[in-house]
Amino acid sequence: MTSDTRAETYDRLREEIFSVVSGETYLPARLATTACLLSEAFSPRFFWTGFYVVDPDKPEELVVGPYVGTLGCLRIPFGKGVCGACAASGEPQLVEDVHAFPGHIACDSRSNSEIVLPVRWPDGRLAAVLDVDSTDYAAFDTVDQAGLEAICDQLLSV
Ligand code: SME
Repeated sequence: MTSDTRAETYDRLREEIFSVVSGETYLPARLATTACLLSEAFSPRFFWTGFYVVDPDKPEELVVGPYVGTLGCLRIPFGKGVCGACAASGEPQLVEDVHAFPGHIACDSRSNSEIVLPVRWPDGRLAAVLDVDSTDYAAFDTVDQAGLEAICDQLLSV
């Protein structure tokens, strides 16, 4: 897939996701729909596609949410691994080689690269992180980051 085709796929997916979830107020339904459509569109490059949600009872801890992929770890403290780094900093993480990332959590040893982005409530608080893993090294680039960011930025406000 060329970069242009991927950017177009992200645009189409964004419209599709928002048309399906429009009016849906149950968070897991929005997240599950997004994980499903992203995973289907980019299989097999997207080996694990899903969300870690901020635990309302433990605000410094992520708990696994809807995902498509092999068994994921249940809980990740803020600051730990790639997802925890995204949650703690609020910044996207684009990691070409997860084995070189300090504190990386290897839920599945087949994952070699990863992209993680924040998902925020309309008031700006962190709701979850979107985590996508690939078995390829350096599978994700700025086209993926921009496409996924556009989806995450609007996911809880449309
Ligand atoms: N690799 C992640 C943990 C989550 S799994 O890959 C599903 C991390 O270090 O944050």
